[in-house]
Amino acid sequence: MTLTIGVDVGGTKVAGGVVDDTGTVLVQTRRDTPADDVAKTRDVIIELVGELAAGRTIEAVGIGAAGWIDASRSTVLFAPNLAWRDEPLREYVSEAVGLPVIVENDGNVAAWAEFRYGAARDADDSMIMFTIGTGVGGGIVLGGDLMRGAHGIAAELGHMLAVPDGHQCGCGRLGCIEQYASGSALVRFARAGARQEPNRATALLKLAGGEAEAITGPMVTAAAQGGDPVSAEAFAQIGRWLGTSLADMAQILDPQTLVVGGGVIDAGDLLLGPTRRSYLDALAQRGRLPVAEVLPAELGNSAGVIGAADLARRI
Ligand code: BGC
Ligand code: NA
Ligand code: ZN
Repeated sequence: MTLTIGVDVGGTKVAGGVVDDTGTVLVQTRRDTPADDVAKTRDVIIELVGELAAGRTIEAVGIGAAGWIDASRSTVLFAPNLAWRDEPLREYVSEAVGLPVIVENDGNVAAWAEFRYGAARDADDSMIMFTIGTGVGGGIVLGGDLMRGAHGIAAELGHMLAVPDGHQCGCGRLGCIEQYASGSALVRFARAGARQEPNRATALLKLAGGEAEAITGPMVTAAAQGGDPVSAEAFAQIGRWLGTSLADMAQILDPQTLVVGGGVIDAGDLLLGPTRRSYLDALAQRGRLPVAEVLPAELGNSAGVIGAADLARRI
């Protein structure tokens, strides 16, 4: 049995785990992501890998990071929602821990984990995954391989255009789907709803101490699960947008399976119901053709660790 380490670097936490060759996480640990501090984030990654590697024979390390990674899987070129700009992460970590390292996009590693071990494990050829968190990430598997593109930045599904001249996106452009189908969009829709119709958002506002501006994603999930109408509608709004993007991707690549993951899917059918309806509506013209089902991710917040570790095994 050989072991690799997977690290998942997100906007709020850095998670790491030791993973075996069946995709099982043997040990897992996490830390807060130092806000807007690239050097400290790097140190946290190195510390975490050192801790996990101590006393074990580790073959390689995979790091999933929320940004655009170059084709050699070394440098984070840009991160719409984090402070990384041309960060040579592979070199830093590899030198510090003395192990081979690859850096890969967080959406790609999650998709790879779900393809190998999760919701899409029955697919042997193709799947597309959307991850719904602070941003909208994506990953595409075609012909059994992760699709990386000519420059390493394939499957940046969050930056497909949804609304011409729409909301400003962290990538610099206006109207990306990330601004309409992410956890951040969920919060924006919920705050707007609570301001406009406070009497239909009493449960949500109660959780937020009466302040629409204090509403957070987990509050929207909790209130929606308890039947708060404004909160449920916020999920329906992001689900409607997400469904149209899933349909676009199905039209382009006709994959075996579509998977939706990321923290926001803790809301289950509150998100997936409207998403599936919108997806099928958008594909109405394909009425008699077979289309991929939309499945919820199964590996939860371990997907990044498992996928990054599994890709590291294939260096
Ligand atoms: C970034 C992606 C990332 C996604 C989810 C997007 O804004 O462009 O690289 O995968 O957020 O973290
Ligand atoms: Na991606
Ligand atoms: Zn964008």
